[in-house]
Amino acid sequence: MLLLNEKEIKSVVSMRDIVEADKTAFRMIANGTVEVPLRTGIKAPAHEGTFLFMPSYAASEAAAAVKIISVFPHNPEMGLEACPAQVLLLDGKTGYIVAMLDGSTVTRMRTGAASGAAFDILAKKDCRVGALIGTGGQAPEQLEAMLCVRKLEKVWVYSRNRERLEAFCEKMREELGQYGAEILPAENADQAVEDADLVITVTTSSVPVFDGTKIKPGCTISCVGTYEPEKHELDPAVLPRASKIICDFKDAVLSESGDLLIPLADGTIKDSDIQGSLGDVMDGRIKGRESDDEIIVFESVGVASQDLVAAKLIYEKALAAGAGTEW
Ligand SMILES: NC(=O)c1ccc[n+]([C@@H]2O[C@H](COP(=O)([O-])OP(=O)(O)OC[C@H]3O[C@@H](n4cnc5c(N)ncnc54)[C@H](O)[C@@H]3O)[C@@H](O)[C@H]2O)c1
Repeated sequence: MLLLNEKEIKSVVSMRDIVEADKTAFRMIANGTVEVPLRTGIKAPAHEGTFLFMPSYAASEAAAAVKIISVFPHNPEMGLEACPAQVLLLDGKTGYIVAMLDGSTVTRMRTGAASGAAFDILAKKDCRVGALIGTGGQAPEQLEAMLCVRKLEKVWVYSRNRERLEAFCEKMREELGQYGAEILPAENADQAVEDADLVITVTTSSVPVFDGTKIKPGCTISCVGTYEPEKHELDPAVLPRASKIICDFKDAVLSESGDLLIPLADGTIKDSDIQGSLGDVMDGRIKGRESDDEIIVFESVGVASQDLVAAKLIYEKALAAGAGTEW
């Protein structure tokens, strides 16, 4: 079994590689060629914790995977991550576990890559300005994914704590300087989005994080943060202006995300306004962007096939490069 930590993973794959892996994963889930049983959760009430097991299998990849991610909210009090995670990759022919990968890195990369894949497929070609709302754990890879699929001149970033916002922008300027975009702290979320061609929301907010009327024609919005039915970070005001609403996987989004469930329940949108899944666009079953003026909303909650395809690719590249530790 090969053990792969964050540094080793990042030394063998680029964000662009994972964007392509996510596209494969989204086509599989839309075509029904990957088995993704419901995730299993076991509670640890004494610690207010939950162990989550997310399995998947694809014959076409000759691989299965299980992501184990635990949510233990008191961990940070002990200086530990709140959501430690690992991905186990299994050989599809023998059932052997062939690799264990740092699950936080795989999650951050494949989640960023979902926005990257959506922008690559749904955004207009000529995008110059980006906006990123949220500067937490997922945010760096979201920003990189946005930068790697379109040549942006600047990205406005917003989060509520000014000091953390400025520190985040400073760090990103150092780490993502090769993309040549200015990375700037915005005064507020509305200022961040009003001139943007690409917008990402990646927050834990339970209420909308920007005014949807500020979104300009032609914008593509990727909503990443919401995963509970009663919470939403996307302002429903933008939805009637959007010509298309596309999901990473429509069934999953409609069981989890308040970004769409709340406006569906109050009649702001109807089910037929949600065209389908990104894989359906890739395979031509539904239309993607048809003009540069359309506003398109992409909603993702994450699917286990992303972990599977990303882990398989990372493993193969690590084998070829001799990276990682054999156990
Ligand atoms: N779609 C997916 O596949 C996927 C995968 C992983 C995580 N997530 C979700 O993404 C979200 C963000 O994850 P993270 O690890 O970056 O979280 P985090 O806790 O590290 O950061 C949360 C960020 O949200 C910001 N925020 C919270 N409320 C806000 C508000 N009202 N206005 C503006 N900003 C606000 C915080 O300031 C912070 O920057 C979580 O809800 C997580 O569950 C989604």
